Amino acid sequence: MDKKSVLLIIGGGIAAFKSLELIRLLKTRGLGVTAIMTKAAEQFVTPLSVASLSGNKVYTDLFSLTDEIEMGHIELSRSADLIVVAPATADLIAKMANGLADDLASTTLLATDKKVLIAPAMNVRMWQHAATQRNIAQARRDGVAMVGPNDGEMACGEFGPGRMAEPAEIVAAIEAQFSVPTRSLQGRKVLITAGPTHEPIDPVRYIGNNSSGKQGYAIAEAAVALGAETILISGPVNLPLPPGAQVMPVETAETMLKYTEDELPCDIAIFAAAVADWRVAATSDEKIKKTGSGTPKLDLVENPDILKTIATRKSKRPKIVVGFAAETENVIENAKKKLAAKGCDLIVANDVSPASGVMGGDTNIVHLVSAKGVETWPRMSKREVAQRLMDRLAAMLAQS
Ligand code: CTP
Repeated sequence: MDKKSVLLIIGGGIAAFKSLELIRLLKTRGLGVTAIMTKAAEQFVTPLSVASLSGNKVYTDLFSLTDEIEMGHIELSRSADLIVVAPATADLIAKMANGLADDLASTTLLATDKKVLIAPAMNVRMWQHAATQRNIAQARRDGVAMVGPNDGEMACGEFGPGRMAEPAEIVAAIEAQFSVPTRSLQGRKVLITAGPTHEPIDPVRYIGNNSSGKQGYAIAEAAVALGAETILISGPVNLPLPPGAQVMPVETAETMLKYTEDELPCDIAIFAAAVADWRVAATSDEKIKKTGSGTPKLDLVENPDILKTIATRKSKRPKIVVGFAAETENVIENAKKKLAAKGCDLIVANDVSPASGVMGGDTNIVHLVSAKGVETWPRMSKREVAQRLMDRLAAMLAQS
């Protein structure tokens, strides 16, 4: 990352105070930081603080003659390796999406030929507003990368998505932009299970769970990006298929196990599916009707444990077997027990209690539990978790 430079555009929001920590972190990583502040940003942090931390002049005014002589806005917009907008307010995003240029920040964004990464921050209602969502979708189509926003309590007292990603997460997203794509899994086969399973009760009903499949699909995407032959065995989800992965849709745990066994041998197997623990012993061929004489009795039998079955195989065991532990309490303790009980090499543990917002959400806080110990990663997007996890597994595979 040496010698790379970031042009940081600070928008006017309460989260602007976090941009100071962001600058500090970027500087400790040897990156050059030049900042532009909007007029509104100056209401939250001072140009003096930003200049002191970045060690560079702070640009605020489109029409400042001195600035134009020293460095015109066109040059400013092109001299950096990456433009980062943090906090990206609803107003700045709207200007970007519509090509408006009425101050130094928006003019720079329109004049740049460099990649732009935004860290949105705004009130939850503003974030959820159709206009903002339309602008975000447009910005993405224009190639803008995004980190966050996270769910959580807002400065205004409301709760939900709209909090700016933490500085460490933004740094990780910046580093990802600078990293040279490697094909570290070229020639390797990676198998992933994802999503829930649906265990039929009768032709119209099933036992299922709330798994969205987002984390498993993001892992498949990351595996493809590293050049792996990627097999995604997926329960029923409502997600676009990851390009480049071979997707095998399944409904039940038993089929998921069969397809998984059929795909062996493989180098890495990652079990991200939320497999239903039980299925109905005898499914009904006809829809079960209300009879007026009480509720139907459903006898359940335990489903095969796919992770354990594969991890404890004598033959064709994948070189690396990774399980997930979805917990609502004692996350790490339970994950350690699962690591031992299932015979896998690594457990990715996460808190899926409703307060965590992980189930169905776009971010995750994970703990990597292995024989070596526990490593906790900061909250980041499921996509970033996937990329970091696949990089880690590729490195483990290379050493094995
Ligand atoms: N798993 C599996 N097959 C099952 C149950 C779980 O492959 N029948 C895998 C999951 O894909 C995950 C790991 O086992 O990688 C742990 O799943 P989790 O639901 O957290 O744990 P369970 O083993 O089901 O235990 P419990 O529900 O009692 O916590």
